[in-house]
Amino acid sequence: PFGVNFIGIGAAAPPVALSNHDLTALVETSDEWIQTRTGICQRRIATPDITLTELATTAAQNAITQAKIDPTTIDLIILATSTPDDLFGSASLIQSKIGASHAVAFDLTAACSGFIFGLVTASQYLQTGTYRRALVIGADILSRWVDWTDRRTCILFGDGAGAMILDAAPTNENALLGFELRSDGKLNHHLTLAFQPEPQALVHTKIAQGKYQPIYMNGQEIYRFAVTQVPEVITKTLHRANLTAADMDWLVLHQANQRILDSVAQRLEIPKEKVISNLANYGNTSAASIPLALAESINQGKIKPGHVIATAGFGAGLTWGSAIFRW
Ligand code: ACO
Repeated sequence: PFGVNFIGIGAAAPPVALSNHDLTALVETSDEWIQTRTGICQRRIATPDITLTELATTAAQNAITQAKIDPTTIDLIILATSTPDDLFGSASLIQSKIGASHAVAFDLTAACSGFIFGLVTASQYLQTGTYRRALVIGADILSRWVDWTDRRTCILFGDGAGAMILDAAPTNENALLGFELRSDGKLNHHLTLAFQPEPQALVHTKIAQGKYQPIYMNGQEIYRFAVTQVPEVITKTLHRANLTAADMDWLVLHQANQRILDSVAQRLEIPKEKVISNLANYGNTSAASIPLALAESINQGKIKPGHVIATAGFGAGLTWGSAIFRW
């Protein structure tokens, strides 16, 4: 068995920003309502010329530059996304764009938990010795799937990508201190981006063609789910890692809502100063939010080598999970 080391991180976001004020031209809302209920001030929006693959590729290249590695040494690429350019998968295209010619690449879907699920999946390949170097990307362009007439959801989401490079390491240098992943399909209907079949006759049978419906969310149910399950899964992960909340230098949660971040921190008795938040500038970027927040804080020198970081993702599925690691 091997351990895992984290050797580089990168992010990317589209240049165009939509402010809360901009949204008042679309729906009955206000900057004050959005800021007090969510902490969001603006979100980045991908214009039609930008693809998910491009955003993810830029984030990956930034991580490769920081890690100072040759892309041909990457063995595995996992793209966590719910909004691929192509439902057959977008990871292979990223593989070729970054020149990772030896890497196997595939997409993984776990909505806003996608980055954590991807990180844990990649680490299993490294820990068993199957692969030595992995690239995990979280990227989403939810603006393409939002109902821009629904004020309960359209104010929340933004677009972005983040990426991390993981290396196999000796077990006594393992920087992945613990993880826990969860799913509960009974709550699936509270947050969906679902295919709506339209039955059509075909020769002597019927088939369902159709299209995906925009994001539906029961905000209050998701809020309740997040503030109860996220502290629980982090506590369990800390326990597995033989750590206490006081051992954590930083809490980096999926950036869904400032009130969720505050409530989780409070339940875990983690002081506000240790909670990373960049919601104000990006909104909820789904699978991208954790690596985007990590990359910013690392590049600003806030998160330093050796710091212990507790991360947790949560979202549609429903899925949720935590990974605690040393940077
Ligand atoms: N502007 C103004 N008023 C609004 C808006 C808006 N944008 N949206 C809703 N309202 C109104 C509602 O219509 C309602 O009015 P009513 O009482 O007259 O019916 C009132 O504000 C209160 O609505 P609630 O839904 O109760 O508002 P709440 O305080 O729950 O906040 C929110 C809504 C921000 C969505 C909150 O429920 C939340 O954050 N939930 C968690 C959502 C989340 O984190 N999702 C992401 C996780 S999963 C993923 O990332 C894909």
